[in-house]
Amino acid sequence: MAQDKSASERMEKIVSLCKRRGFIFQSGEIYGGLNGFWDYGPLGTELKRNLKDFWWRRMVRERDDVVGMDGSILMNRQVWVASGHEETFSDPMVDCRICQSRLRADQLQEKGGRKQCSVCGSFDLTEPRAFNLMFKTYVGATEDESAVTYLRPETAQAIFVQFKNILEVSRKKLPFGIAQVGKAFRNEINPRNFTFRSREFEQMELEYFCRPEEGPQLLEYWLNERLKFYADIGIASDLLHVHKIPPEECAHYSKGTYDIEFAFPFGVQELEGVAYRTDYDLTQHQNASGKSLEYFDEESKQRYIPHVVEPSAGVDRTTLALICAAFDEEQVTDEKGKVETRTVLRFHPRMAPIKCGVFPLLKNNDRLVRQAREIVELLRPHLMVFYDESGAIGRRYRRQDEAGTPFGVTVDFDTIGENGPANQGTVTIRERDSMKQHRIGITEIKSFLIEKIS
Ligand code: GAP
Repeated sequence: MAQDKSASERMEKIVSLCKRRGFIFQSGEIYGGLNGFWDYGPLGTELKRNLKDFWWRRMVRERDDVVGMDGSILMNRQVWVASGHEETFSDPMVDCRICQSRLRADQLQEKGGRKQCSVCGSFDLTEPRAFNLMFKTYVGATEDESAVTYLRPETAQAIFVQFKNILEVSRKKLPFGIAQVGKAFRNEINPRNFTFRSREFEQMELEYFCRPEEGPQLLEYWLNERLKFYADIGIASDLLHVHKIPPEECAHYSKGTYDIEFAFPFGVQELEGVAYRTDYDLTQHQNASGKSLEYFDEESKQRYIPHVVEPSAGVDRTTLALICAAFDEEQVTDEKGKVETRTVLRFHPRMAPIKCGVFPLLKNNDRLVRQAREIVELLRPHLMVFYDESGAIGRRYRRQDEAGTPFGVTVDFDTIGENGPANQGTVTIRERDSMKQHRIGITEIKSFLIEKIS
């Protein structure tokens, strides 16, 4: 119980830091927000962009066997009929007759064998009924059945329906993959845990097409690749769990699924699914569209529908995991002997929204300010820097610690040669985690930082 309390306090601190420092805000907050929708502020946007860019780099640019695509959010309704989403993409929902809350039946606690309302504690609940999670909309000027379609609930289907076009233009041979990063929408019954379960979110998905016999081994391969990815963005392996979904719980078309889970303060929860989806999706679209989605295998001279292994990660969930993993508080003693709590986001430099703070020791000294601004201009084309001249230098460091900035460059009187020539042209570099400082030449700053963040 004590642990639960400290975990929920930790989560409260994270949510409050996210707002205070501009990582994440409630969407349309001045109108009271909208449940399940979030806006990313300046720091959150940088963090999310770094994550998506690094995923793209690892999954597409550094590989010969993966190409990218960027599909539309609205597609012909038949895509969702064929994929099975229109018929079955639903969660079981119940209503509480006492407090009128709408609840997900599969998430309710049971007491004495009866499901209990999580809001008011009543047992007076309706029978579960299926609630389709897709947002319905109309395309064009008439709002009738013929104009209906849905905001996509996953990015994957755009990849399946463009499989043939991309195969032709990329001239890839099996095994090869198509990757996509983009928005998805689900009308979740109970959005919760901050951004963890939202109604609008982003996915990073790869559909990796292969010969049927390669599926099982590629499932293991992609699980390992994805675990390496999390290590490379600074998520420690002890915070990650791999959950092998028992065969009876897998989707009917899956021949194996792993969930990669993260230890959030509110519990161990899914970050990403890695699933061997067989030839289910392409077969569904081939049958429904009447267009062949077969592959001609030049080696075996056979024609068949490829199988697919899909690593599917959530951008928002991983962003939240990065923040939760990075969040730390420690007691430090300042130069005057005063003990204070230092809040620090220990992001991997690759993910950090701002890579380097640049500070003139004093703001009312023209030479210090000019030199610091020159350093900003030197670094700006290569990485995200932040110039700050206001307040005591210690306070400026603390502000950057809270933003997760891994390095701080300070221009002092040594830099401008006022204390003799020995350290002229050098600055101090402060490292966020150790708070240690050392001097390096101005001309070395760029390569020092680029090496740390790439
Ligand atoms: N194409 C397969 C697919 O969409 P999924 O497990 O439903 O599989 C994949 O979703 C990932 O998308 C999840 O692991 C999660 O990271 C993210 N995701 C799913 N629903 C989400 C939601 N409501 N809010 C935030 N992220 C979500």
